[in-house]
Amino acid sequence: MSFTVHPMTPVIGAEIRGLDISRPLDAETVAGLRHAWRDHAVLVFRDQQLDPDQQRAFVSIWGTIGKRSQALPSQRPRAWDGPDYNADAMLVSNIRKDGKPIGVLPDGEMWFHHDMCYAAAPNRASFLYSMEIPSHGGDTHFASMSAAYDRLPDRLREAIEGRRVLQAFDELQDRRLDLDTLSIESVKHAWQPMVLRHPETGRRALYVNRLMSHRVEGLSPQESEALLDELFTYGEDPAVRYEHVWKVGDLVMWDNLNSMHARTDFPREERRLMRRFTISGTPVTAAWEDASAA
Ligand code: OGA
Ligand code: MN
Repeated sequence: MSFTVHPMTPVIGAEIRGLDISRPLDAETVAGLRHAWRDHAVLVFRDQQLDPDQQRAFVSIWGTIGKRSQALPSQRPRAWDGPDYNADAMLVSNIRKDGKPIGVLPDGEMWFHHDMCYAAAPNRASFLYSMEIPSHGGDTHFASMSAAYDRLPDRLREAIEGRRVLQAFDELQDRRLDLDTLSIESVKHAWQPMVLRHPETGRRALYVNRLMSHRVEGLSPQESEALLDELFTYGEDPAVRYEHVWKVGDLVMWDNLNSMHARTDFPREERRLMRRFTISGTPVTAAWEDASAA
C-alpha cells in the first residue's frame, strides 16, 4: 500500500493521503507510518469510515490500547450511548441523554494540556475520530514541545533544568485548579520532570501546560507562576503549532509526549461527537535522567 506524507507546518503535523485505515495494513506500510509519526508527532487521515472495531484495530498497531480510567460501567458517571466497547473506547461529546453528557470533555474551550500528565504513566498517544462537528469552532490546536524547548532562551533552560512540576487535573477545561483552597490530595496529580526525553527521537520536549501544570518544585508560588507563564507563552507560540479544523471522517493521532493540544470554543447548542482511543504509556523519562542519549 502506498501513501504520501504532506507536512502541515515545519515543526508539527502531517496529513497522510492514500490510505484506507479501516483495512488491515501491511508491515511495510506500518513501518512507513511509524516513521512519519516520529517525524511529525501528529498524523491526520481524512475521509475515513471507521466503526469502533476498525478504529480499535488501527490503534492497536501502535501499541497496547489504554483502558478508560473508570473501567467499571457502574463507576462511570455519565450516560453511555451504545454498546460497551470493552471499556477502551471513549466518546468526547457534548451530546446529552437524559440531561447527562454521553461522553467526556463536553462543552466549549479546553486549554492546552498533555493528556494524563497528572498520572504516573501518561498515555503514549491518543486517537480522535470525528463523527459530528459543529458549524464552526471546536478546532484542535497542537503544539510541538520539542520545537518549544528548542526555542527557549538559555536563561529559561537553566531555570527548569533538573526541576519537577506539579501536574494536576479535575475536569476543569479552561481554568486552573485553585490550590490555595483545594487539597491536592483530592485531585489526580503527579510530580513530573519539566523537560522529558522523547523515547524514539531522543529529543528534549518541554513538559508543562497551562491547564494542568501548577507549581514548580523548589520555587515560591510567585516565582513559580512567573516562570510557568513564560513557559506557557513559548509552548503556545503560533510558530510551534498546527491548528486542525475538523471535517467528519478525520482520524487524528498525536504523540502525547512531545506535543500538547487545546480545543477552541464552539456553539453549545450544536452537536460535536468524537470517538477516542489511547495507547498506554510508561513513566516519562526526564531529559537529565539519561545523559548518554542525544
Ligand atoms: C482529548 C482532547 C480535544 C478535542 O480527547 O484528549 O483534548 O478537540 N480533545 O475534543
Ligand atoms: Mn486532551
